[in-house]
Amino acid sequence: MSFDFSKRYDGITGSAIRNIFSLLGDPMIISFAGGNPSPDTFPGEVLSEMAKDILKKDSGTILQYGGTYGRQSFLDVLKELFTEENAVPQDGEVISLTGSSQGIDLMTKAFIEKGDTILTESPTFLGALQTFRLFEADIVGVEMDDLGMVIDDLEKKIIRYRPKFVYTIPTFQNPTGLTMPASRKKEMVEVCRKYGVLILEDDPYAFLRYSGRAEPTIKSFDDGDTVVRLFSFSKIISPGLRVGGAFGNKEIIFKFNLGKQGQDVHTANLNQEMVARYYREGYLYPHIGEINDYYRGKAALMYETAMRYMPEGTRVIRPEGGMFLWAELPEQLNATKLFSEAVRNKVAYVPGTHFYPDGGHHNTLRLNFTMVSEEKIEKGMKVLGEMFKKQIADK
Ligand SMILES: Cc1ncc(COP(=O)(O)O)c(C=O)c1O
Repeated sequence: MSFDFSKRYDGITGSAIRNIFSLLGDPMIISFAGGNPSPDTFPGEVLSEMAKDILKKDSGTILQYGGTYGRQSFLDVLKELFTEENAVPQDGEVISLTGSSQGIDLMTKAFIEKGDTILTESPTFLGALQTFRLFEADIVGVEMDDLGMVIDDLEKKIIRYRPKFVYTIPTFQNPTGLTMPASRKKEMVEVCRKYGVLILEDDPYAFLRYSGRAEPTIKSFDDGDTVVRLFSFSKIISPGLRVGGAFGNKEIIFKFNLGKQGQDVHTANLNQEMVARYYREGYLYPHIGEINDYYRGKAALMYETAMRYMPEGTRVIRPEGGMFLWAELPEQLNATKLFSEAVRNKVAYVPGTHFYPDGGHHNTLRLNFTMVSEEKIEKGMKVLGEMFKKQIADK
């Protein structure tokens, strides 16, 4: 039977990474293709004790329906985490999310009609591209340099396309690993405010920092109305709990509330409560320190092996945090075409083309280091480097 699906699904094939996963049934494959945090970092024991205790003491409300904004204990934690010098959330300005992915969806649902434009970094997060496409938005990429979005190009594209909002991942961006410094964030807010364009600041990697100092958020430069900030506990506690939050203007967050009612009514009470207790009882920051110690060596080795094994002329971005290493191979190499050969050689990555709103850029690739042992990083990067070099020699 052929189904008469809505037009909005035309051309949407599912996340390229999920499709790549299905090719990776072979346990012998060294996969740099994933984007998951390592299960070695999950605080399973502490959380299981907490879950037991929470249910023992409060099953009447935990197992009941809850409010759409979120449980007060959790909203109080969100407010503390979102508070910065110029950004102090008030009641009604924060909402719990079932993962920050839900925030991307709710923002799009709140603002986008078919054919409206959204500006994004180019390249950007695949999940966001898929959501924007489902809402039939026109997605226009903004050029990036080593400091993130290029402000001149942003302004030019705001004037030309009159976008509803700009979507940005300011810290250890997925996929490039780049971080926008405070000066660039400030300029971005100024330009967007000048033209009345909103900013969606999606910042799930901010705490995964292996060197250098934390930067102020984009939200901290806001006048209250321009920036909606998303936060997620997926990379610092657990993605499976599906807990995150948003902070923005009250009217916008109310629209998030309305949109969320029809999606999941509210984020799971037990999960909100576990995250709130994990924070309140002082586990979160030491745990983040441990995660960063666990990933720091992998990130450094990934960069070092890329420098050692990739062909001359490859541009590699050194990851100061986050989960990915981004590489731009010499122009004559096509990482998209070479993907199947890499898999035959038992190594996988994500071809960079998937992260660009308009495709192209076939010489780029994203490599994840959080899920791979140091031994496999060394081995897998050597295999990839040799494969790419051989291609150049054979041409
Ligand atoms: C930039 C970005 N935003 C959002 C998400 C999704 O996070 P969550 O698990 O909070 O939905 C990811 C996950 O890979 C991501 O890379």
